[in-house]
Amino acid sequence: MSHIPLRIGMVGYGFMGRAHSNGYSQANHFFNLKYKPVLQAVAARNAEKARAFADQWGYQDIETDWRKLVERKDIDAIDICTPNNLHKEIALAAAANGKMILCEKPLSMNTAEGEEMCQAVEKAGVANTVWYNYRRIPAVTMAKQLIDEGKLGRIFHYRAMFLQDWTISEDVPQGGTATWRLDAQAAGSGVTGDLLAHCIDTAIWLNGSITGVTAMTETFVKERMHAETGKKQEVKIDDAAAFLARFQNGSLATFESTRYARGHKALYTLEINGEKASIKWDLHDLHRLSFFDHRDEGRLRGWKSIHVSDGDQPYMKNWWVPGLQIGYEHSFVHQVVDFLKSLETGQPCSPTFRDALETQKVCDAVLESAKSGAWVGIS
Ligand SMILES: NC(=O)c1ccc[n+]([C@@H]2O[C@H](COP(=O)([O-])OP(=O)(O)OC[C@H]3O[C@@H](n4cnc5c(N)ncnc54)[C@H](O)[C@@H]3O)[C@@H](O)[C@H]2O)c1
Repeated sequence: MSHIPLRIGMVGYGFMGRAHSNGYSQANHFFNLKYKPVLQAVAARNAEKARAFADQWGYQDIETDWRKLVERKDIDAIDICTPNNLHKEIALAAAANGKMILCEKPLSMNTAEGEEMCQAVEKAGVANTVWYNYRRIPAVTMAKQLIDEGKLGRIFHYRAMFLQDWTISEDVPQGGTATWRLDAQAAGSGVTGDLLAHCIDTAIWLNGSITGVTAMTETFVKERMHAETGKKQEVKIDDAAAFLARFQNGSLATFESTRYARGHKALYTLEINGEKASIKWDLHDLHRLSFFDHRDEGRLRGWKSIHVSDGDQPYMKNWWVPGLQIGYEHSFVHQVVDFLKSLETGQPCSPTFRDALETQKVCDAVLESAKSGAWVGIS
């Protein structure tokens, strides 16, 4: 089968640069697709490191300035894998050059920037998506199917947490290449944009719009050395955030995220309680979906732990054989697959920039509420 090439230009080669490159490399091995990614060029400021990355992952070429990359005629899609403060500038330039865009999350530093980005891709008419990849873990996708089929009935509660523990030491610096997440100028916010954004995206996808929030945040370590200036500076990101929310469908929610939960490295959990059934999912056991069905015969009622690895479960028929699970990296392969399919069908690949803007609005409302102490509505 001859494929239509989709020539990728990637900006940034860190954690996500590797996750996406793996996704582009694997997609056509396992799924039958009309389009096929071609690793055309990667842009990063350090030529030597960019070349080493290109050689390791199979990119044909490098650029040391992302502006050159977005102007190249031999690139169809720009993949933005940089810290958050660069998303907008790169996306606007890519859209102006008629490139499709796959942008890392959070979409932007704030809602106003995100709106500009939405308008740019809509005006240019270019395909776009944001890498909220947890939607594409088969157990999470199956949760969506069960909810949409009405298996839970009316939803009462949504509960999500994303817990880490890597910034407890006061010696962890802020800023620079390794710790930009602690520098508000590069990250925009702390756990709200970094971790809660994932929880919010999945929640909106599974349970509909969030109409209002009341939140609290805390910065436990007030000053940290800045990796670029070498000086101690005020920490302006939120180290921890928790909020209550109401959904349009009348259900109530609690969300919590922190980098100070000693013992937890990346524990994303969600639970949904409905009238007829409940669902639980946990990133540390990502191939399992817990399901409780009140309609089961009384004596046999209990939480089932479903091993999501069978051919009739989402994405799984394209992988190994029933009983053999897949992992974290496959969520990125699936996002590539769905993006390529969207080019075939002409349908948007959700979450688009416009979809991801909804998450951005909730993040902004969380930060605003934490500051004012007031309940903040979301339009
Ligand atoms: N979807 C997810 O699950 C997930 C997970 C981690 C990170 N992210 C998001 O991905 C983005 C990148 O995060 P990461 O963990 O890969 O960070 P990282 O620090 O590992 O990599 C960032 C890359 O951007 C490059 N970069 C920085 N400034 C640049 C510039 N001016 N020009 C070109 N390249 C530049 C760096 O050299 C580095 O290669 C962030 O927006 C983050 O929120 C998403």
